[in-house]
Amino acid sequence: MRNHRILFGTNWKMHKTVSEALDYVHRLVGMLATVDGRQQSQVFVVPPFTAIEAVKRVSSGKIWVGAQNMHWAEQGAYTGEISPRMLQEIGVDLVELGHAERRQYFNETDAFINRKVHAALQHGFRALVCVGENSEDKQFEVEKETVGRQLKIALNGVDPESASSLIVAYEPVWAIGEKGSAADSAHTRVMSCHIRSLLEEMFGREAAAGVSVIYGGDVNARNGAELLVQGGVDGLFVGRAAWQVEGFADLIRACTVGGIPG
Ligand code: PGA
Repeated sequence: MRNHRILFGTNWKMHKTVSEALDYVHRLVGMLATVDGRQQSQVFVVPPFTAIEAVKRVSSGKIWVGAQNMHWAEQGAYTGEISPRMLQEIGVDLVELGHAERRQYFNETDAFINRKVHAALQHGFRALVCVGENSEDKQFEVEKETVGRQLKIALNGVDPESASSLIVAYEPVWAIGEKGSAADSAHTRVMSCHIRSLLEEMFGREAAAGVSVIYGGDVNARNGAELLVQGGVDGLFVGRAAWQVEGFADLIRACTVGGIPG
């Protein structure tokens, strides 16, 4: 069965100090209390490492709190890295892996992401795996091949029993960040269907239905509901439009008022 809880997440990237993060989450918890249909959705925030512990403390279990990256090793001589054990101790709910900026600026490869996915699952985290084609892939119409390769390598060797701990974020590189503009809902639907059929090949139909497939890239309160419903995804992953808490709350409200059919 498909997981029908709609996910709304925000990746803060390298934004917000601890005090800014706390202010945001306090206000978010208050705003969510007034959103109709919130029972059918799950909200998560992905702060920078320095703010995770504080955010986790004030989110009182209502909001999942994630990390933007993680090393796969338990500990070791990896200066500047954060291990699964460290994140486990502060109660992280999910780990975001393979964001396009990590691939582009920090040479993150699909094989690295695969090691991190296994480490995340072994430590009981949900693994949020980002995939998406760049503009050249789109121009030459190889987006399905690119996303297929990313997904097959990232999830290689994962047991079907762990599939329900996976979230796949489809985030076309040309849609995210300052220069990006959102995919249309038809493209999102084609790609979300493609991702689901690959997941079925990998895990079998039943287990694959437990994986949430979400969309990210220039999502905001104006385009969110259409991307969600027409794009056929289980949730939305937001950067810029959610860095002000009002923007995130407006988006969630726009998508849940009246209840979106699952
Ligand atoms: P954006 O970022 O919403 O600012 O385009 C999305 C992302 O990078 O996940």
